[in-house]
Amino acid sequence: MTNKKGKSKGSMTLFIVLLFAVVLSGCASAPGKGAIPVSTKAIEAGDAENGRKLFMGYAHFENEGPPCMGCHSVGDNGLLGGGSMGPNLTDISERLTLDEMAFLLANSGSEISPVMQPIYTAHPLTVREQADLIAFMISSEGQSETDKEMIVVGISLAGTVGAAIALGFLYRGRLRGVRRPLVNEAQKELL
Ligand code: HEC
Repeated sequence: MTNKKGKSKGSMTLFIVLLFAVVLSGCASAPGKGAIPVSTKAIEAGDAENGRKLFMGYAHFENEGPPCMGCHSVGDNGLLGGGSMGPNLTDISERLTLDEMAFLLANSGSEISPVMQPIYTAHPLTVREQADLIAFMISSEGQSETDKEMIVVGISLAGTVGAAIALGFLYRGRLRGVRRPLVNEAQKELL
């Protein structure tokens, strides 16, 4: 009786361990279950202008993913460009093929960004959006990249100078107000 029970317990454990092994190996080898990557042909019909709007966040993604600009810059977009968490995408079409870009945006195949993958798996990009985004990225090739460091230095300098001028204006009478009596007193002592 006890022997039988122990045996079934043992095979149950074995079953669970095997089940885990199957599930785990399945997870490891499963391809990214993201959106459907857009075909090269559809990219040719992509609307670069709409892609620009989506990239910058002027237009919203259907599944409410965050705009790419939060982490990426492209060309000389905007005064401060985009975020700098991800690489600058100005010449991305020299680094990646159209298919690789599509796989990356759809979170499938080997081109998966560990940073973008969880975000755009929860908020997948539609085939149309991928086509427009890729058309936009291709169209920005060769643009000059915003030199963000110089802009930041420029803004800081302008801010410092502006603050100095503003403070000088606000407190323009202050030093004189203190100094005049002091000077007067000192002169009195000398007399
Ligand atoms: C949360 C930040 C984030 C957002 C949002 C984001 N990306 Fe990325 N992206 C990254 C990072 C970081 C990498 C570099 C690979 C990595 O570390 O995951 C990357 C890599 C890429 C690459 C490959 C770059 C290369 O040099 O190989 C492309 C193309 C790309 N992103 C396009 C986009 C597009 C298009 C969007 C908008 C739909 C977007 N990304 C939104 C962070 C982001």
